[in-house]
Amino acid sequence: MKKINRSNQLKRRKFLQMGSTFAASAILFPLSGSKVYGAFKSLPGANSIPYVTLNNGIAMPMIGFGTHSLKDEICVRSVSEAISVGFRLIDTATIYGNEEFVGEGIKKSKIDRKELFLTSKLWVDDSGYDTTKKAFETSLKKLGTDYLDLYLIHRPRGDVKGTWKAMEDLYKEGKIRAIGLSNFEADQLSELLTYARIKPTVNQIETHVFFQQQEALENLKKHELQMEAWSPFAAGRNGIFSNEILAGIGQQYDKSIAQVCLRWHYQRGIVAIPRSSQKAHMKENLDIFDFELSPKDMQTIAKLDLNITQFPEWE
Ligand SMILES: NC(=O)c1ccc[n+]([C@@H]2O[C@H](COP(=O)([O-])OP(=O)(O)OC[C@H]3O[C@@H](n4cnc5c(N)ncnc54)[C@H](OP(=O)(O)O)[C@@H]3O)[C@@H](O)[C@H]2O)c1
Repeated sequence: MKKINRSNQLKRRKFLQMGSTFAASAILFPLSGSKVYGAFKSLPGANSIPYVTLNNGIAMPMIGFGTHSLKDEICVRSVSEAISVGFRLIDTATIYGNEEFVGEGIKKSKIDRKELFLTSKLWVDDSGYDTTKKAFETSLKKLGTDYLDLYLIHRPRGDVKGTWKAMEDLYKEGKIRAIGLSNFEADQLSELLTYARIKPTVNQIETHVFFQQQEALENLKKHELQMEAWSPFAAGRNGIFSNEILAGIGQQYDKSIAQVCLRWHYQRGIVAIPRSSQKAHMKENLDIFDFELSPKDMQTIAKLDLNITQFPEWE
């Protein structure tokens, strides 16, 4: 059996933790209570991206770039352009079938790997201890990197306990800077917490103006997990980009519906990962840190909640 060198592992963990300290600038500004927010440095333009400090001490940008359904050359170009306009968090998953293209896009951008916050997810078919470890190595290889910033269990299916143990071990080996969950309901999170030796940092769930997930937000805060919104624009469903209420709110600040939505996520303390294949949209989606929705706007948006998934086909 191969002997594990503890001292090297610890040195590597320390290095990976320090990476985030160096990536974050010293400009700090509080947003909502106890969490410390700051800004990722080395970004073009005046709008730096604020970050949240996760429960294991690492910094995560408050906005990232989603890559679901981006494939081939469009994916390579989009990821590279997203980085060029300032995105630092890139979200992919094994099931998207695009990790190679995301990796190529990162390479094309020529960004220093330490500046990025790269997320991938373990698909249900690979659940279990050994299969998770193998799937993780495959993801690394496809992405062309030797560590992930965040690795998530994509859905709470199969051998979740075995998967979590493998992720904890990969974390301890210094191959992942933070481990977390996606699509976990409150009871599924509670169950995982009964055996987890390392607490999850994040739960990535469907969240947008039509499915606001207020209860989940409160529950995640209680457990000190960061909420991350997938499909922050409901992938365009339910007429979101022609919603007159959101347009009216945006007009007050000279901002688009997309910007109102993303600012709303940010003011709730939620990390959002909008996808776009258009550079102009990518720029627009980052330009949300120079205005603030009023309490009245927030209350108006709260009334848009239908409290139901807009993706029933994925249930
Ligand atoms: N964990 C999970 O189970 C899960 C599930 C779903 C998604 N996700 C993650 O969440 C990410 C985001 O969700 P999503 O991809 O479903 O959709 P989304 O980000 O909610 O919406 C994407 C759509 O919005 C449009 N768009 C983007 N910026 C815009 C702007 N400024 N103005 C007008 N339209 C704009 C895009 O079109 P253009 O390309 O034309 O800009 C695209 O059609 C995914 O890519 C993925 O990384 C995770």
